[in-house]
This record gives sequence, C-alpha cells and structure tokens, in this order.
Amino acid sequence: MIAPVKPPPTYAWEPTTDFLAAKYGLPRESIVRFDVNTSPLPPDLREVLTGSFDPALCEYPPSDYAALVAAAAVAYGVGADELLPTAGADEALDLIARASLREGSVAVVATPTYAMYRIVSEQRGASVLEVPRLGPEEGFRLDIVALAKAARGAQIVWLCEPNNPTGVSEPPERIGELLAVLESDAAVDGREAPTVAVDEAYAEFVGRSVLPLRYDYPKLVVVRTLSKAHALAGARVGFAVARPETLAPIVSFRAPASVGTVSAALATASLSRPELAAGNVARIAEQRTRLLSELAELGWRPYPSQSNFILIRFSSPKSAAAAAETLLRCGLVPRTFGSGHPFADCLRLTVRSAQENDRLIEAARGIPA
Ligand SMILES: Cc1ncc(COP(=O)(O)O)c(C=O)c1O
Repeated sequence: MIAPVKPPPTYAWEPTTDFLAAKYGLPRESIVRFDVNTSPLPPDLREVLTGSFDPALCEYPPSDYAALVAAAAVAYGVGADELLPTAGADEALDLIARASLREGSVAVVATPTYAMYRIVSEQRGASVLEVPRLGPEEGFRLDIVALAKAARGAQIVWLCEPNNPTGVSEPPERIGELLAVLESDAAVDGREAPTVAVDEAYAEFVGRSVLPLRYDYPKLVVVRTLSKAHALAGARVGFAVARPETLAPIVSFRAPASVGTVSAALATASLSRPELAAGNVARIAEQRTRLLSELAELGWRPYPSQSNFILIRFSSPKSAAAAAETLLRCGLVPRTFGSGHPFADCLRLTVRSAQENDRLIEAARGIPA
C-alpha cells in the first residue's frame, strides 16, 4: 500500500472576516483587518478596470509580461532582464526555494521573521537554521557574526528588510557587510556562496533597497510586492529581482502565466504612477506616528516602526491574548503569535486609516498593557 502523503508545513492566517463576524455577532462591514499589513484603501485605478484588456481576457497574458516588466524596471531601477513577475511575493519566495534547495539542503533564517521562509524551505526538504536577531534594546538588528557562521554550510540565507514583525530596517551598510563576509568565507572554503534572498515587501516604507548590492554579490535575489505600499494585495503581483544569470534557474520553476491579465494591468498602472504609492506611504507614516504616540500614552509598549505595522509588547502572553480577544469583540483583528513564539506576549497591528485607527485607540483605552 502507498503511504499517505504527509501534509507539508503551511501558513496559518487569522480567521476570515466572515468567520469573525459570525462568531462575535458583528456586521461584516464593521470588521477591520489590523492583522495582514495591507493598506486601508486601494488606489483609484478605475480606468484600468473599465477599459479593455490587451490581450483580451479570452487569451493568456503575454509570456514576457512586457508592459508590466517595463514599468517595474523603471520603478525599481533595474534591467528588464532582471525581473520575474510572480503571483505576489509569496510565489517568488516559493520559486527561489525551489531553485535553491533540495532534500538535505540547509536554509538560514534570521528570526523572528515572516513564517514563509521556514515553510518554503521545509517544503523542499531543507533543514532550517534559525539565527535569532539581537534584542529590542539593540533594535532587533541582525547578528551578522552568527548568520555568517550558520551560512557556512547553507545554500540560502533568508532576510526580510524591513523585517516583519519587528517593523525595523537594518542600517544598509550592515547587509553589505554580511554579503562581503559570506563571499569571502565561500572563497576561503572553496565553495559557492549561498543565495541571499532579501524580501523587501515593505521597502517603500523606508525608501531604500539593497538592489544596488547585486553587483557586489551576484547571488542576491530581492523580492518585491504590490501588496503593501501599492495597496494591491488582492491583485497578487510581486517580483523576484536578480542578475539575469541568478534569475534564470528561478524562472524555470514558474508555472506559465501565473499572474493574471487584470492583475498585471493594475500593477503596471500603479508602478507607472509612483505618486499613488508615495501618497499612501506618506498617509501611513503620518498615522503611524500618531498611533505610536497615542498607544504609548495609554501605557501600551509599542516598538519603533519604519513599516506599515507596529509590534506591541504586553506584560505576558496571557495579557496579549486577553488584549486580542477584547479587540476582536470590537471587530478589530490583530495578528497574534502562537504560544512558544518569542513574541507570544506581543500583538502586531497594521497602521490603517485615521477612522479605523480611531476605533483601535478607543478600544485600546480599556485594555491593560
Ligand atoms: C515579509 C513579507 N513578505 C511577503 C509577504 C506576502 O506578500 P504577497 O502578498 O506579495 O504575497 C508578506 C505578507 O504579509 C510579508 O509580510
């Protein structure tokens, strides 16, 4: 008899809006997602949706996504041959893992971070070496010495920049420093340097990228998305960005046309009108300043953030869980971390619109820190 296939490690979301509305007896439209780091409003791209598509929707999108790639090349300052459009950043992460890892490989992850790096690595049969970031008093920075040591036997190093869920960005020269050590260690050991995947899902919020480092470190792959600053999470568009020779093996793993024509058109329009994402980033930065100070005034302990979300520490995992439950009863959905997670005593909250943040601050008044 053939043994049943063991389910792979997989990602867990908070419950859906419909589920929460039914559970807490709330109108569906009163529920606000503070858990998924999306933007409060989509960009006004009505003209894309009401116009006609080229090619028409009865056809597949062009295999080179020429218009989307041209717009992204300008937006990110890279060559068209350095871009692979994907169905969100998550597809890019999966393709990078497929191209870099196999049974018995080793992946290094700087933790706590986005869960998908572990998941896509383990799904490929790789073992994951976790390298904890430095503590909050050191700004959750990368432990470069420990990362370089762990990377000596690894095929890939996953970094998130700025990091989810800590919300802060590494001083840019430190990533360069890490890449230089990885390169020289590999040369000394006489082996190939590992792939370094830097997930820049939130890069627009800090306004910088590690992309220029691809000239110094050819095995650098940067991941970008339209889901966050561009406010198009529902469209599912992202990119793997790397030097052509690094991108080629990743490209081979993508299913044909994984980005739909409508999504590609929305992403092309948003990338071609940078003022849309820039306006969103500015509004979120203003709301972030306000949320950080008003929550702190209530005695809450938010960590500094350069992203569109804030990590908040409570006095214990129990108080974090109680705070989450009170917020949920008000229709406000926080991101929780399971027991055993280093941030089990924290909640992560997305910065949303002024009105939605008003509701959060109002609900927070009754919640002990
Ligand atoms: C760090 C990070 N990378 C990737 C993603 C997924 O992005 P996408 O919607 O483009 O798949 C998220 C979503 O929250 C994220 O936080």
